[in-house]
Amino acid sequence: VLCWFYVFPVYRLPSYEEIVDEVSRQGHAWRKNHTGIHVYRKLLTECCDPQRIFAVTKENSPIGKVLWYDGELYKSHTVSNDTYPLFVQDSPLRRPLKKCAVVGNGGVLRHSGCGRDIDDADFVMRCNLPPLSKEYMEDVGTRTHLVTANPSIIEKRFQNLLWSRRSFVESMQAYGSSYVYMPAFSMQPGTEPSLRAYHTLADARSNLTVLFAHPDFLRSVGAFWRGRGVHARRLSTGLFLASLALGVCDEVTVYGFWPFAAGPDPGRRPVSHHYYDDVLPYKWFHAMPEEFVQLWRLHTAGTLRMRVDQCS
Ligand code: CDP
Repeated sequence: VLCWFYVFPVYRLPSYEEIVDEVSRQGHAWRKNHTGIHVYRKLLTECCDPQRIFAVTKENSPIGKVLWYDGELYKSHTVSNDTYPLFVQDSPLRRPLKKCAVVGNGGVLRHSGCGRDIDDADFVMRCNLPPLSKEYMEDVGTRTHLVTANPSIIEKRFQNLLWSRRSFVESMQAYGSSYVYMPAFSMQPGTEPSLRAYHTLADARSNLTVLFAHPDFLRSVGAFWRGRGVHARRLSTGLFLASLALGVCDEVTVYGFWPFAAGPDPGRRPVSHHYYDDVLPYKWFHAMPEEFVQLWRLHTAGTLRMRVDQCS
């Protein structure tokens, strides 16, 4: 079968219509490709070593180590007596993790009935502290093992934790005893709020474990996908997590990745940007449709599975 990604070179992004045609042609069929999974894990390990450096640890970042911010030029943080004790001892993600679910925040999850499938995974990753209230349970599930938190959320939603520490701690209870993955060393203004989030959770004796994203990991994953035609100022959080999952999990299913305003269903129903709101990202910042094309390639190759349909 001739697919658009063979017909069009990578620098010509297929139109929404072409993408939807391709998605419907493929249907719900999916076949796991053990060789593809192995090859991709090897590629990702060689470029980005997710198992060892996805997070800053005491092992990979001793006192005195210079962490170069991945989102800014010539800015660095030198690990000190203040920051070192906040790092976990060693990488907490040990292979083999069996079935992993990477949950994006796309509106395509609405009415998907995918909650049970997601909760069935051995390791569930979510993006940007998403709402997990009862009304979304059937579609997005309830379990979380790792959730990302951008410093910008701490700033906007929790007023930088200067006077709303309690509401932060309470809202974090939705994520049980998961890892909270924060890009504390991506942009310098994000370091302070990330450290504050750490201390707030520690003071409240929270069950959550804060992990700081290693800037070398974020930088190398960015370069990996740039080499495959994703041209964005910064990869979306979902693609970072999918890359991490491909590097450490035996089977990866991604949900909620659909950056288009109309659905993949024959009726092309309107789809909101998020499953909980319709606030769009800055256009120039991410390249989600390009990312989708890359992930769909991996889906058709059997390397990971994308769910954009209904689960039940
Ligand atoms: O912060 P960011 O804009 O990256 O993410 P988000 O809007 O909180 O959504 C989490 C992730 O879901 C994104 O990083 C994308 O990978 C994915 N997503 C998608 O593919 N399609 C959408 N309509 C919305 C999110």
